[in-house]
Amino acid sequence: MNQDKLKQEAAEAALEYIQVGDIVGVGTGSTANFFIDGLAKIKGKIDGAVASSDASAKRIKSHGIEVLDINSVGRLPIYVDGADESTKNRHLIKGGGGALTREKIVAQASEKFICIADQSKLVDRLGTFPLPIEVIPMAQSLVSRSIVKMGGQPELRSGFITDNGNTIIDVRNMDIDNPIETEKLINQIPGVVTVGIFAIRPADVLLLSAEQGLQVIK
Ligand code: A5P
Repeated sequence: MNQDKLKQEAAEAALEYIQVGDIVGVGTGSTANFFIDGLAKIKGKIDGAVASSDASAKRIKSHGIEVLDINSVGRLPIYVDGADESTKNRHLIKGGGGALTREKIVAQASEKFICIADQSKLVDRLGTFPLPIEVIPMAQSLVSRSIVKMGGQPELRSGFITDNGNTIIDVRNMDIDNPIETEKLINQIPGVVTVGIFAIRPADVLLLSAEQGLQVIK
């Protein structure tokens, strides 16, 4: 089975978690796109969606699903999104697509966060995938110097501007032994908008697709 088929399997498994009348938080990326396309088939069941990026909002709307402003939504029962890496503890690295800040906001606001991924995303330890950090442009150098002191190798994502008008620094070789502590430390550097470690608010359920079938980790 190819990787796209595996992504689609994980995405379609997440549809089972949606209840009648839910407003659904929707992530960003190729796996989330399969979820959006699946959501279109059950759109009569839901009351709308909250998007974690302009790209996802566009795709959701193209299926005739209403996109709601998160500030006007009282309760967000569920959020479904992919990841760049996940451990068995459901600690994640996200932001490969650059949507990490809005993703973290929607994840934090949701009652249940379901992460959908193919088995290639499962790791013993976070950090092989370069860690994305969204930064206010004037803080790029300051944040990069702080990251070097922490042992990481920062690199500005060339030609990329986030939906919030900021830049992304991708960090290689960062020691992420303790994801919660590293998330807190990097968040405290002035100018950091969001670090792509999702450990303080991890996923609640990880739906991991593999040739052998679907694994549910909670
Ligand atoms: C978007 O900013 C990311 O957090 C994505 O959720 C992550 O990169 C996974 O994307 P894929 O599903 O395309 O691998």
